[in-house]
Amino acid sequence: MEERVAVITGSGRGIGRAVAERYADAGVRVVIAEKDEAAGREAERDINARVGGRAAPGGPAPDGPAPDGPAPGPACFIRTDVSRPDDIDAMVAAAFERFGRIDVLVNNAGIGRSASPYDLTVDAWDEVIAVNLRGTFLCSRAVARVMRGRGGSIVNIASTRALMSEPNTEAYSASKGGIVALTHALAASLGHDGIRVNCISPGWICTGDYDALTDSDHSQHLSGRVGRPDDIARACLFLCDPANAFITGANLIVDGGMTRTMIYQE
Ligand SMILES: NC(=O)c1ccc[n+]([C@@H]2O[C@H](COP(=O)([O-])OP(=O)(O)OC[C@H]3O[C@@H](n4cnc5c(N)ncnc54)[C@H](O)[C@@H]3O)[C@@H](O)[C@H]2O)c1
Repeated sequence: MEERVAVITGSGRGIGRAVAERYADAGVRVVIAEKDEAAGREAERDINARVGGRAAPGGPAPDGPAPDGPAPGPACFIRTDVSRPDDIDAMVAAAFERFGRIDVLVNNAGIGRSASPYDLTVDAWDEVIAVNLRGTFLCSRAVARVMRGRGGSIVNIASTRALMSEPNTEAYSASKGGIVALTHALAASLGHDGIRVNCISPGWICTGDYDALTDSDHSQHLSGRVGRPDDIARACLFLCDPANAFITGANLIVDGGMTRTMIYQE
């Protein structure tokens, strides 16, 4: 893994942050492509302090990565809103300028807007699709242009909501179903360039206080427990491992068996 570079969107907190941490633990340099400046800088500082052994001299660079010189640690925050095409192009250019290569992209940034389909506004629909689906496509294309020739691995974070639903989740569910389809389409288009594209559909992943979960929360899973961000991070590492190069176009469901559970209500 050493010398490899991974771009992880939405990695300031939650699942994305765990993915960035596990890649950094594996010796991969990570680009934290995050919209929330405070969360992104905190993730950069913590990962560099823990894994890099030292934080950036004088703290992180004021405007993203320093223009020259080696990264002060394995993590580099670049403020990025994946709903903005210009942000994506600038982030990929800055990451490539900084590290000279990109081997892995994890499209993790995602939002949800729960509303009745009778009330969901066009703006809310467009916002969810722009972040979750269009952002995943534009990041993939921008990074694939850099990976082309050398090859690489893209992992898109979908959801089991691509496969099953609760009420009032139309925009989110549609965006995640779109990601599953986009994944095999990109796998077909980019395979000749040595780029593998897979997605992970997480089930219930607790990004908050795991101790606050109830017995019922855990026991409704075949696995007997709710998921943790590290469950998804390990799946990312597995899919991106060059030893697993036979896997492309796949949708890996990581949900503790929730979508395999048949429920009859009495
Ligand atoms: N937590 C779960 O149970 C679960 C289940 C299935 C799928 N997912 C998916 O996993 C991914 C991460 O989920 P999470 O629970 O960690 O979410 P989260 O809300 O805890 O974290 C999401 C991160 O993405 C960032 N972000 C949001 N919009 C962005 C944008 N436009 N550009 C760049 N960054 C942006 C946020 O600032 C935040 O740091 C999402 O795609 C989500 O849909 C989560």
